Amino acid sequence: MNKDKLIIFDTTLRDGEQSPGASMTREEKVRIAKQLEKMRVDVIEAGFAAASNGDFEAVKAVADAIKDSTVCSLARALEKDIARAGEAIKGANSGRIHTFIATSPIHMEKKLRMSPDQVVEQAVKAVRWARQYTDNVEFSPEDAGRSETDFLCRVIEAVIDAGATTINVPDTVGYNLPHVFGALIGTLRERIPNSDKAIFSVHCHNDLGLAVANSLAAVMNGARQVECTINGLGERAGNASLEEVVMAVRTRQDLFLCDTGLDTTQIVPASRMVASITGFAVQPNKAIVGANAFAHESGIHQDGVLKHRETYEIMRAEDVGWTANKMVLGKHSGRNAFKTRLSELGIQLESEEAVNTAFARFKDLADKKHEIFDEDLHALVSDEQSTQEQEHFKLLSLKVCSETGETPHAKVVLAEGGMEREAAADGGGPVDAAFKAIEGIVNSGSELLLYSVNNITSGTDAQGEVTVRVSKGGRIVNGQGADTDIVIASAKAYLHALNKLHSKLERAHPQV
Ligand code: KIV
Ligand code: ZN
Repeated sequence: MNKDKLIIFDTTLRDGEQSPGASMTREEKVRIAKQLEKMRVDVIEAGFAAASNGDFEAVKAVADAIKDSTVCSLARALEKDIARAGEAIKGANSGRIHTFIATSPIHMEKKLRMSPDQVVEQAVKAVRWARQYTDNVEFSPEDAGRSETDFLCRVIEAVIDAGATTINVPDTVGYNLPHVFGALIGTLRERIPNSDKAIFSVHCHNDLGLAVANSLAAVMNGARQVECTINGLGERAGNASLEEVVMAVRTRQDLFLCDTGLDTTQIVPASRMVASITGFAVQPNKAIVGANAFAHESGIHQDGVLKHRETYEIMRAEDVGWTANKMVLGKHSGRNAFKTRLSELGIQLESEEAVNTAFARFKDLADKKHEIFDEDLHALVSDEQSTQEQEHFKLLSLKVCSETGETPHAKVVLAEGGMEREAAADGGGPVDAAFKAIEGIVNSGSELLLYSVNNITSGTDAQGEVTVRVSKGGRIVNGQGADTDIVIASAKAYLHALNKLHSKLERAHPQV
């Protein structure tokens, strides 16, 4: 049977980035976008171009770098936002503008302070403005999940007439249940007279843990685009997770009348890259990409899998990219091998000087850790890029003493705007002492919300990747650091976060 194509629209770089602390640099966005392109994702939502100059530059950089996927920018239903989005995607081989306005009674009355008639009028204008830049225009009635069906039909019919080619139905606050949401998509497709002129899409949030179930129910009812994110990253409880949607459709081809064109073996590498760049670790029991997703612990299961794999496995680990860590480089690898591997991984360093610096760091790492894996290279480049950004405070040296029966003590030397400063502190452990010493110099007054360490590869010589999340005056930022010494990785991560707080880069939020 000829199956329909299910379009995968990835919004890790836009909605995913709206998770507090998950902001990404332009270079990081380009790296993730290249991995998504390698996975054959159809549409990459690269950001909200009007949010800030940085966001505009990031969307533009992704649009310029990506050749095979469509690159999209979000824009509110405002002429200036749409112009900015149009400008940012100009260089794309295939570009899309995604414009939205809220349609639920509560959003129209309390947030927009607009009447339903005004909302319809603005939505139509927005689609017409967007069509001046591209024929590929997506429209979302924000908070559709709590909007009145009659009103949704009216808005959607009007925007399709105005030229919208994709209609995305968002469950913005994750309020829906699968049978209700599925039925809504069926009703909209049936009742809207011109519904055959657009592709119906869904965008579900996970507040009740139902984002994937709601998306799949919508697909059963004719939606042919799903908006999702790697690892389910996104506002609050996140968005529908790409890997779960894609593998559910692939695994249950007996039930779905469509399939995606994704290379699913790229899923685990994408998951690892996003976790390492954002610092949002993946829980071990997470479906598809969690470390335990294919691990059979019980004797009965192990025995069954050994006798016949399908007794307990519905998917093959290798089909989603769980291959054993590959040793790619070592102590004796040369600059050329290093550069080639980086480019195979889609990592482009800006200059020969940047390659030299990264190569020197690689050699240092190879001295401490004999086998260097792809994950190590990603961490090394992320670490290098984060030390280059806004480095107001720079770690010059750190010494920690930790001994049984003694109070841990740390002495730190930082450069602050060129001046060398030092401080020492005791702490409950070496990391606590190091953070107290750093705070003794920086005096940030920030609150530490999260501290986590993950090993990048296995073995006691693995690099530890540390994530910290700090908040001050309502701003929340994440910092990452990687090193084979986890106290040093921790200090780097803390300084990365403090540097971000110090830089005070502000951006608008599309939905506020
Ligand atoms: O959740 C939402 O409604 C959104 C829209 C902007 C599509 O992210
Ligand atoms: Zn959203």
